[in-house]
Amino acid sequence: MLGQRKGQTEQAGGVQLIQEQPGDWWEVEALYDLCFAPGREALSSYRLRDDVDPVAELCLVARDLDDILGGVIRYWPVRIGDAAVLLLGPIAVHPTRQGEGLGAVLMGASLEKAASLGWDRVLLVGDAPYYARFGFSKLAAVQMPPPTNPDRVLGLALSEGAWAGVTGQVTKA
Ligand SMILES: CC(C)(COP(=O)(O)OP(=O)(O)OC[C@H]1O[C@@H](n2cnc3c(N)ncnc32)[C@H](O)[C@@H]1OP(=O)(O)O)[C@@H](O)C(=O)NCCC(=O)NCCS
Repeated sequence: MLGQRKGQTEQAGGVQLIQEQPGDWWEVEALYDLCFAPGREALSSYRLRDDVDPVAELCLVARDLDDILGGVIRYWPVRIGDAAVLLLGPIAVHPTRQGEGLGAVLMGASLEKAASLGWDRVLLVGDAPYYARFGFSKLAAVQMPPPTNPDRVLGLALSEGAWAGVTGQVTKA
């Protein structure tokens, strides 16, 4: 039963958020393939993920009551100088479920959990018009591996002033 799943975090609108399990990996990959353009793994942000384990507690799958996968989010640890940073993404919601608020639920639940686990700052590469609603803004002094459009490098502080003095190149954890 869904209600007995390991790592279940919450239920929202008939959808349950559950910590991703090893057996979910390929189903999640398939959803990413569906939602992103071909060649997504050639993006420079993926080089920061190579051979690094994701932050398991923050990788969530959203399943409906029939166990159908509706949305997913993963996070990886990265560094900027000495500062530990969370790299958010990829996040994806199945095309048949987009616009219902599932993306916002995945963002909200995972960011709340990240703060409770003691993470101070989150980084992502994405569309500012979407992520601004969660408090993300452009990080002018942070550089992702090229080629990355600097306008898409966005950050969120989970504790006050967490980005102060955190500048430079993002590197693998
Ligand atoms: C982006 C994504 C995760 C959002 O999930 P979702 O469940 O549809 O999002 P929500 O229902 O919480 O929010 C929908 C709102 O976000 C807006 N939105 C979605 N994608 C957007 C984007 N790229 N830029 C700006 N706004 C966007 C919608 O227009 C809608 O706006 P409204 O609230 O004013 O109607 C989903 O559209 C998706 O999987 N897209 C393909 C993969 C992708 O682009 N991932 C993000 C990588 S940066």
